[in-house]
Amino acid sequence: MKELIEDLSVLEGMESCETVAISKEQNTGKKRKLYIESYGCQMNFSDSEIVASILAKEGFDTTSEIQQADVVFLNTCSIREKAEQTVRNRLTHINSIKKQKPEMLVGVLGCMAERLKSKLLEEEKIVDLVAGPDAYRDLPQLISQVDEGEKAVNTFLSREETYADIAPVRLNSNGVTAFISIMRGCDNMCSFCVVPFTRGRERSRDPKSIVAEAQDLFNRGYKEVTLLGQNVDSYKWSEKENNKAFITKKGIDEVVNFAHLLEMVAQVSPELRVRFSTSHPKDITDDVLYAMSKYENICKYIHLPVQSGNSRILELMNRGYTREWYLEKINRIREILGEDCGISSDMITGFCTETEEEHQETLSLMDNVHYDFAYMFFYSERPGTLAAKKFTDDIPEEIKKRRLQEIITKQNEHSALRNRRDVGKVHNVLIEGFSKKSADYLQGRNTANKVVVFPKENFEKGQYVNVLVEDCTAATLIGKAVK
Ligand code: SAH
Ligand code: SF4
Ligand code: F3S
Repeated sequence: MKELIEDLSVLEGMESCETVAISKEQNTGKKRKLYIESYGCQMNFSDSEIVASILAKEGFDTTSEIQQADVVFLNTCSIREKAEQTVRNRLTHINSIKKQKPEMLVGVLGCMAERLKSKLLEEEKIVDLVAGPDAYRDLPQLISQVDEGEKAVNTFLSREETYADIAPVRLNSNGVTAFISIMRGCDNMCSFCVVPFTRGRERSRDPKSIVAEAQDLFNRGYKEVTLLGQNVDSYKWSEKENNKAFITKKGIDEVVNFAHLLEMVAQVSPELRVRFSTSHPKDITDDVLYAMSKYENICKYIHLPVQSGNSRILELMNRGYTREWYLEKINRIREILGEDCGISSDMITGFCTETEEEHQETLSLMDNVHYDFAYMFFYSERPGTLAAKKFTDDIPEEIKKRRLQEIITKQNEHSALRNRRDVGKVHNVLIEGFSKKSADYLQGRNTANKVVVFPKENFEKGQYVNVLVEDCTAATLIGKAVK
């Protein structure tokens, strides 16, 4: 359990679903205990913090021990079939605990709740409560419904809900870095993706509440915030459109886009690092890149998922860009932010009708870009998506997996190559805590999001330190602090 919680300190942006986070122990003397397990991307982890905050007002402390819980929530992910299978296996295990403790309430939250709705109550007999990502304000009411002996479901998707006014209980934090959700939902309709169906329409959160949250975190000693959204580049806030009570002084309605928002958050303090995830190749603008270059505290790292290196597959995926467009974006990043800017990606192998030559184009694009890091998957058909409706999932699993292995092997070479470039250089590192392997070492990240490990000496969590990197693996830079 402990390792799982510590692993959270190295979680990254739109982390994919094989990760699990467990609520920490919180003892403020409240009557009931809530245990939340979160799966999927960082948005889900961030939502669990909102859930904990809503329930804290209703007399719940969180616990990291499922046996002590009165309420057990699984905040779930539907992105691939395997993600849903993991949750089903977990529910089977929880069922055995519930047999000894029948009064324990079991609820499914998040994307799987949204996708399956009340079917979850029938399929998984132990589930008492189902709540989709926009229904968390209703949880106190849903819990009382279960207390009164009924099953409870709310999977209503909203066009407005951003939970802007709810201060998250930081369950997932190391006290140095935190995530701030800046928008919800997604309007992109990539043909393979279930997110638009599970998270609903895209909506942006009021920039004033985002800046206030960043300021509050900074005041409490946090040194880094990551702004989260499925497609941060389409962030857009206009007082007139978003705030019904908007009354102009001079009738001027200033639209805040993502580049503006980045600057606003960067201005909280030069000591507060700003990261963001995920960028979309079709939407990231030069203005975002210029804002990044203007502020030293905006980290020089971009997660820019390509999905495939072939233009025909990209079109079938409905990604809205071609191979050439994508490579041009990479050129702009290198021109404006330099060769050291970290770039990572997501890739899917074996999408419907992908030929061997088209797969080779993904490999050649990787050779062209040299990603620092990538999350790589084989295609998993999701019910209800455009691809499931229009195309046949026709690539045999062993071919999908062989292609996946090929891109993983290539990525490992590139990660090692990119890390070797960093050896011999001094990196400014924000210390996040002890190295996972030894308490004599600390670890943190450089601006490009690379993990740097170095001897502890007298340094402490939350400090910035300059580290001369002397060695590396494919995953880590290793060095020592210098003046
Ligand atoms: N909003 C982000 C991605 C969110 S999902 C973006 O637009 O890039 C995270 C990653 O999961 C995706 O980038 C994609 O690579 C992968 N993914 C999504 N649906 C998938 C599916 N059906 N099968 C396999 N991988 C999938
Ligand atoms: Fe899914 Fe595409 Fe939206 Fe990302 S941008 S969440 S891949 S639909
Ligand atoms: Fe995230 Fe999984 Fe939902 S990746 S948005 S939790 S489907």
